Amino acid sequence: MEKQFVGWVIEEGIAIVTIDNPSSLNALNAATLTQLDKAFDQLAGNAEVKGVIITGGGEKSFVAGADINEFLQVKGDGAAGFMARGQRIFDKIEAFDRPVIAAVNGFALGGGNELAMCCDIRIAAENAVFGQPEVNLGIIPGYGGTQRLPRLIGPGKAKEIIFADERINAQEAFRIGLVQRVVPKGQAVEEAKKLMKKIMSKGPIAIRMAKKAINEGLGMSLREGLDLEGQCQGVCFGSEDKDEGAKAFLEKRPAHFKGR
Ligand code: COA
Repeated sequence: MEKQFVGWVIEEGIAIVTIDNPSSLNALNAATLTQLDKAFDQLAGNAEVKGVIITGGGEKSFVAGADINEFLQVKGDGAAGFMARGQRIFDKIEAFDRPVIAAVNGFALGGGNELAMCCDIRIAAENAVFGQPEVNLGIIPGYGGTQRLPRLIGPGKAKEIIFADERINAQEAFRIGLVQRVVPKGQAVEEAKKLMKKIMSKGPIAIRMAKKAINEGLGMSLREGLDLEGQCQGVCFGSEDKDEGAKAFLEKRPAHFKGR
């Protein structure tokens, strides 16, 4: 039987996905990527799941990057396919139609930082360390790091991190906007659950449309993005949840959203 490196449980509508291979600090080998891909396919088809948290097994690492043991097998021609596969899976996570939070409990290096960056929100434990060390191996980030990092923190800081392998701690990651919250060691998943529950109390269609407008709009001109915002708002205004939200406000009671 294939070893399981990715596990998930559902607690109160939140799927907690754990990448669990502590002997390699949860490095992403081919089997882990396949299992992560399958996990997100299954979660996508599960209506019970209202949001996803991704974390790493053990106390030390979120994900310490792609599995370097596999690099020697990949030569020039194979690199495009090798990278495209990881990129496709990370794109799928980024486009997941419900919120995804990274609970970064330790090292988030290379593919680990790239995985965190394709999540909607990052919460870091204070022992977390972020970086893109690929140039040490004579390669560049290949699961989206050259694209998502500068979009999140600006090109100058991204180049400093990627060119010089500048590692940054949780507080610095917070200061530059790479993570949204820093919590004590061991608390990242709990904090992510707290935030997810708050998000889940809102209208799910509104959250889905806000995610779509933000994610897809980032690759558009301002005018195109504003048009997309209008279309997404049209979906919200066509929903029962919009009427429920307005009525609840006017009747001074909490809204009970049904996601339709
Ligand atoms: N791929 C494969 N194995 C990895 C790995 C990776 N990306 N990252 C860590 N490991 C393995 C180590 O080889 C070691 O295995 P061993 O016990 O069989 O020797 C084990 O995980 C523990 O790592 P170790 O280096 O002993 O821990 P440390 O606390 O001294 O250092 C790191 C931790 C994360 C700083 C260090 O492991 C590291 O630099 N890893 C590579 C990070 C990287 O370059 N990622 C990008 C890849 S593209």
